[in-house]
Amino acid sequence: MKIAVIQGPNLNMLGVREQQIYGPMKLEQIHAQMKDVATQNNIEIEFFQSNLEGEIVDKIQECFGDAQGIIINAAAYTHTSIAIRDAISAVNLPTIEVHISNIHRREEFRKVNMIAPVCTSSIVGFGPFGYHLAMVGMTQIMNEIHAAQEAQKETAQAK
Ligand code: DQA
Repeated sequence: MKIAVIQGPNLNMLGVREQQIYGPMKLEQIHAQMKDVATQNNIEIEFFQSNLEGEIVDKIQECFGDAQGIIINAAAYTHTSIAIRDAISAVNLPTIEVHISNIHRREEFRKVNMIAPVCTSSIVGFGPFGYHLAMVGMTQIMNEIHAAQEAQKETAQAK
């Protein structure tokens, strides 16, 4: 089982940018915690960050046939990108959207969310801990997929 973690624009600046909103943790620290959860659960995990919309679309497409789930913080593109929304829809993988801040309590333009309707779930407003919650949720989804695959194998063998 493999999951991809896709981080959008300016998230490489975590720990520096607007600490009063996003906190002091750096992206590498967040990823290290996610990696621990993945390792404990025998899940392969890949991390990707880009400031460019097209690169994020490419990465989501690459997940097709390669990963079984996606955790994404599309950052500012959340509010504008039909291309990222369409890519998530196209690959049709379990996808958990994370936002460090509570986007519903901020500026009006952050209340527009292009991504949420095509995601399995959204986690907002928990700070960097939201990524850990996403890992817990994704582990559960991976376990369910694995169990369904095993059950299918058993049924095929019994025939
Ligand atoms: C964000 C919220 C977005 O509105 C913002 O543009 C970001 C980060 C968050 O994680 O809270 O860059 O996605």
